[in-house]
Amino acid sequence: MSNYHIKHLEEYYQVYRKSIREPENFWEEVAEEHFMWRKKWDKVLSWDFSKPEVKWFEGAELNITENCIDRHLTTRGNKTAILFEPNSPDEPAEHITYNDLYKRVNKFANVLKAQGIKKGDRVCIYLPMIPELAISVLACARIGAIHSVVFAGFSSSALATRINDSDCKMVITSDGSYRGAKSIDLKGIVDDALEDCPGVNSVLVAKRINSDIAMKEGRDFWLQPLLDEASGECQAEIMKAEDPLFILYTSGSTGKPKGMVHTTAGYMVYTAYTFKNVFQYREEDIYWCTADVGWITGHSYIVYGPLANGATSVMFEGVPSYPDFGRFWEIVEKHKVTQFYTAPTAIRALAKEGVGYLDKFDLSSVKVLGTVGEPINEEAWHWYDDNVGKKKAPIVDTWWQTETGGIMITPIPFVTPTKPTYATLPFIGIQPALMDENGQEIKGNQVDGRLCIKFPWPSMARTIWGNHQRYKDTYFSAYDNKYFTGDGALRDEVGYYRITGRVDDVIIVSGHNLGTAPIEDAINEHPAVSESAIVGFPHDIKGNALYGYVTLKEFGETRDHNNLRKEINQLITEQIGPIAKLDKIQFTAGLPKTRSGKIMRRILRKIASKDISNLGDTSTLLNPEVVQDIIDHAK
Ligand code: PRX
Repeated sequence: MSNYHIKHLEEYYQVYRKSIREPENFWEEVAEEHFMWRKKWDKVLSWDFSKPEVKWFEGAELNITENCIDRHLTTRGNKTAILFEPNSPDEPAEHITYNDLYKRVNKFANVLKAQGIKKGDRVCIYLPMIPELAISVLACARIGAIHSVVFAGFSSSALATRINDSDCKMVITSDGSYRGAKSIDLKGIVDDALEDCPGVNSVLVAKRINSDIAMKEGRDFWLQPLLDEASGECQAEIMKAEDPLFILYTSGSTGKPKGMVHTTAGYMVYTAYTFKNVFQYREEDIYWCTADVGWITGHSYIVYGPLANGATSVMFEGVPSYPDFGRFWEIVEKHKVTQFYTAPTAIRALAKEGVGYLDKFDLSSVKVLGTVGEPINEEAWHWYDDNVGKKKAPIVDTWWQTETGGIMITPIPFVTPTKPTYATLPFIGIQPALMDENGQEIKGNQVDGRLCIKFPWPSMARTIWGNHQRYKDTYFSAYDNKYFTGDGALRDEVGYYRITGRVDDVIIVSGHNLGTAPIEDAINEHPAVSESAIVGFPHDIKGNALYGYVTLKEFGETRDHNNLRKEINQLITEQIGPIAKLDKIQFTAGLPKTRSGKIMRRILRKIASKDISNLGDTSTLLNPEVVQDIIDHAK
């Protein structure tokens, strides 16, 4: 029996039990049946969470692009692999078949080689959602270069930090990008970043908006002429199972962003297997994930997972509000999308605009709906279910992380009965545990605690680039022998999980992970600022928004420093990007601190959320008097 496609609940439990009892046999069967290996493994799994060290399919050799492209050519050569829908509805969609993709990836791979990029080199990709983004990712993988995609909404300074952290030799970008009615000068941002990146030797520039940009002689090259000259055949580099495939940065609660390292074989097996089951994918489907390839969702479920299954994956360049709030639904109708995967923030923003935009379009092609990135509230869940799925398309609320590589807790559509706001059951092979504050596992149901994972799964990140100790400290030190997710969760009476949110200082705004420390660092650079603390507070559309408490060197009489507010947000935009801007800024005479000098964020969070009835005992604070003052002047 093939374990690849789960069809009913009993089968889920059966396969789940097997995957837990005999994980090695289970994953070996999946890997044997469904992929193209240059050499099979010697050992399925070795692991030690105390180091931490995890190896899957050791000894195996493969190239992930042969699995995502080459092996489909005989049976699916003329099938659309990537269906590109441009920003403007007036520009025609582009159907890139598997044959086309093969040629374009191979040409791109040859261009990389000609520029001196070799196996193991790091290449930074800073591109909008155009086909070149997916193609350059695959071209790196073809030659064994490690791609580091940086979301093209990050500022030049954030880009420079990421380029330098992993010593990228090359940047791939475009002359600019379209975002709704606006266009953005991406190349200008790259030029600024590269002032501080001495290790970058070359920049490949895709033409997208035909703007007049500066090209630095000897460093910058237009991509197209190089592709035109390159051969359409590039032998795939043979990679070891545990060779790094990519680095992807994610925010931590402290310090600089963490370059999560994902390796080749396990990542491929798990993303492909989850894609097939979580979306109940069938050969004729048109699958659309609205994420950006700049995030893990795009890596795993726009590029690698779908292509490893020979699927058609829609890539949308634009935004849900352009030219109006009906755009998503227009695209669903136009391409007869069967699986639609988006973020709660997008659902809330669209729900606010009413159903008028939806009713114009035929959404009957949709079989499965998905959400990811943050908890979905009950109202948004029902809106999605009623109006988009018409109560016929199950919603898969998928919980996972950049670090996990693939979906971890999720319903399987038509298999797991769904429950609003619940991510429901662990996926096959995943062993969650809820932990109490004393480090003990909480057994049984109707409990809540901190979410950990007890056993390795194939697509887990293996380290943080250049800082294994930080990897250990962040994920494997809070609880013995367990991966700690940073999330809180509850388990209901039937064993369904509901993710309740971060238990650390990471704040999720519109589905984007933001660490408080880098934002505070940016604010503190303002010459008038002495100290700051950022907390999240509930927001109707974004899920959370940011509230900044800022103390000034000279507080003065007036609290109304509107210019200063603008300057602070400008600094944040420059250092991180507009996604990290603060919704509210309160200037305060002081920040509440413990006697050891630690800022009491719990109190600040409550004040920001207008929940001041139960602030707890503030008398032990170093400066209890500031609390009332902050409450009195809260925004
Ligand atoms: O807090 C959880 C939240 O997003 C965090 C991971 O963010 P990131 O690494 O950017 O990856 C997002 C896309 C996989 C988690 O620690 N999160 C993600 N999915 C859900 C979620 N919270 C609740 N429900 C979800 N379905």
